[in-house]
Amino acid sequence: MEGSMPLIGDKFPEMEVQTTHGMMSLPEAFAGKWFILFSHPADFTPVCTTEFVAFQRRYPEFKKLNTELIGLSIDQVFSHIKWTEWIRDNLDVKIEFPIIADHGQVAHTLGLVHPGAGSSTVRAVFFVDPHSVIRAILYYPAELGRNFDEILRMTKGFQVADAQKVAIPANWPNNELVGDHVIVPPAKDVATAEKRLAEKKYECFDWWLCHKPMEK
Ligand code: BEZ
Repeated sequence: MEGSMPLIGDKFPEMEVQTTHGMMSLPEAFAGKWFILFSHPADFTPVCTTEFVAFQRRYPEFKKLNTELIGLSIDQVFSHIKWTEWIRDNLDVKIEFPIIADHGQVAHTLGLVHPGAGSSTVRAVFFVDPHSVIRAILYYPAELGRNFDEILRMTKGFQVADAQKVAIPANWPNNELVGDHVIVPPAKDVATAEKRLAEKKYECFDWWLCHKPMEK
């Protein structure tokens, strides 16, 4: 892994980070929980401000999903504190999750600066599971704010997929073919494929495209 950025399926690298909530050890600080590490280009910028408000509004829903949030930019901790005070005083939103004050080391380790897009961190999102495994990575450019309902949907989707050993269809839970159903993993042998169609346990377009209601 030395010299390359972590990818889906890799363990989240161990690191000590300075945050608005003090020093934290990652991923250990969130052991047993999901966490979402997200970077923004800079404090006191308009799109980033809209993103922080959007994330904070959904923070209770993330907490219900045993999921913590942690922000990051290459700004000093004083700047993070001043910016979140401004958000509180002017927009009436108290930012409750920690924000990493990175000197560039975390950005380098995680591949958050994309030189073709400038010297700031891009809008990255790392989804990390309770075993500290990176499950998804999103990158957005500075000029496009993220969709936080999608980030919530992905978090829910991972948890349903893991708990019920299923896969999550496009646009779930409003998929064009299967509605709010989930996808049964395709059969991996002939006998299972034949049985699947014969026993009619699932709704199937074919043996490799079967779906079922989500367990409640
Ligand atoms: C913004 O958050 O508005 C922003 C940040 C960096 C570059 C451009 C826009």
